[in-house]
Amino acid sequence: MKQIETKDYQDMSRKAANIVFAQIIRKGNSILGLATGSTMLGLYEELVKMNQKGDLDFSRVSSVNLDEYLGLPAINPQSYRYYMNHNLFNHINIPLENTYLPDGTAVNPDEECRKYDERIHNMGGIDLQLLGLGLDGHIGFNEPGEVFTRETHCVTLDDSTIKANARFFENEDEVPKQAITMGIGCIMQARQVLLCVNGKAKASILKEVLYGPITPKVPGSILQLHPNLVVVADKEALFGL
Ligand code: GLP
Repeated sequence: MKQIETKDYQDMSRKAANIVFAQIIRKGNSILGLATGSTMLGLYEELVKMNQKGDLDFSRVSSVNLDEYLGLPAINPQSYRYYMNHNLFNHINIPLENTYLPDGTAVNPDEECRKYDERIHNMGGIDLQLLGLGLDGHIGFNEPGEVFTRETHCVTLDDSTIKANARFFENEDEVPKQAITMGIGCIMQARQVLLCVNGKAKASILKEVLYGPITPKVPGSILQLHPNLVVVADKEALFGL
């Protein structure tokens, strides 16, 4: 594991963006695994700047996102498809048809999960997977449980996740209770994983993830076994480490 401490959120976003930059320079047709949430906003802003300055070309890049709420169509501003289009894809030269998220409106969500794994497999797997961290240690929407789930699957969100994500909705009742998430298998098979964490609220869970026991009760702890994990976290999140 490589741990990079940054002075603040902006510094984290810049350093993480540089890692994405290096990946695309090394391999123009990279497959990026992308994440949502507030952690990623600064990083996406940096990537947009690099692209608009002409320093970074996304024309041959493809992407697969970690997760999507069940029941939210792409036009819903709370859907992760909407987030990705508005915060990244619409501002860079990535062909939109090469960007994939699970379809939250699929008539048969289990079938959608299966097809999603097949797609990632057929693309040749993920070169660089971006990850944020949930307050309960979730990655993607892999919530704490009794086992690590390997495949893309439907999940019922934990109350704490619903509460944490309620800030993006009018009220807590509007947060979908279910989602589709990439499984632990795809994440662990990514050739490189970039975990970004900021803020003091995540300091104790980050400590558990990186140095606690490897257990499905703390889903992110599996990352300790990844051979090419880079953690970019600000001082506050790394407090005590
Ligand atoms: C959300 C998402 C995750 C994200 C995490 C942290 O629920 N499903 O992919 O990484 O929780 O979110 P935030 O960056 O807003 O703290």
